[in-house]
Amino acid sequence: MSLMPRLDELPVDDHRSSGVDTKPEPPGQDFGSRVELALGATNHLFNARNSPRYVAQVLQGVNAVATKLERTTRPFTGVGPSEMKARVGAVDLDAPLPDTAAALQELEAVYLRDAIYFHDAKYAAHLNCPVVIPALVGEAILSAVNSSLDTWDQSAGATMIERRLIDWTAERLNLGDNSDGIFTSGGSQSNLQALLIARNHAVAGLRQDPARSGLRLPALLDTLRIFTSADSHFSIQKSASMLGLGFDAVISIPCTPDHRMDPAALAEAMAEARVPA
Ligand SMILES: Cc1ncc(COP(=O)(O)O)c(C=O)c1O
Repeated sequence: MSLMPRLDELPVDDHRSSGVDTKPEPPGQDFGSRVELALGATNHLFNARNSPRYVAQVLQGVNAVATKLERTTRPFTGVGPSEMKARVGAVDLDAPLPDTAAALQELEAVYLRDAIYFHDAKYAAHLNCPVVIPALVGEAILSAVNSSLDTWDQSAGATMIERRLIDWTAERLNLGDNSDGIFTSGGSQSNLQALLIARNHAVAGLRQDPARSGLRLPALLDTLRIFTSADSHFSIQKSASMLGLGFDAVISIPCTPDHRMDPAALAEAMAEARVPA
């Protein structure tokens, strides 16, 4: 089915010649240019007809990044947030750019020029892992094919690849036959997933207690606490909130000068939080 009208079906734009006093469309928004925009948008679709466009435009993008990488001599330009905000704010999101070259030029100003290049040898390590070229090829492929791994009928081979890689990783870590896993987007989702499993495990334990077995989940969650290092990431608090425990279920434990959780402080906080049976 096509959502585009055939050209001979389009209404005739005759308000200029009819003498009828209609409100003029703002520049660039007349009927003709809207049709042109709609036709142009079909050129952006990833499909067999546009395959040559896909190759050419992705290569343009890759080339822009490669050129940047070759010419960048330091990890960061030092740009401040207010300048960056002004530059991004100046982009007119209602005015589509004519082509990929123009979009990449704009991207240079709002992103590439001042991005943090942690690939640079002078960048002091934070947590970003090194990017490897095969992974970039993989990213390009998976974002194009765009499988959805939540069900077999949207994925096929990708589901099996995920399963196989999880099993392979678990085997290498000697996690045993009952182990399982999931690919996550990063630290926040991993912390959320881990805390969900811990929460469900704790709730199952609480339900063993006959006095609590009839309680609904919110009442059980109210009794749970998460003890975390004072240096831990804020995604722990966010996860606690999403898991129904609330921000204030997270108890922050002070660290020793070398940033390890202080075990004595942990024992004290656990004793304090324990509800008498
Ligand atoms: C310990 C820790 N957990 C979670 C995160 C959040 O990771 P992401 O941005 O991948 O969600 C970070 C990132 O800084 C982290 O250092």
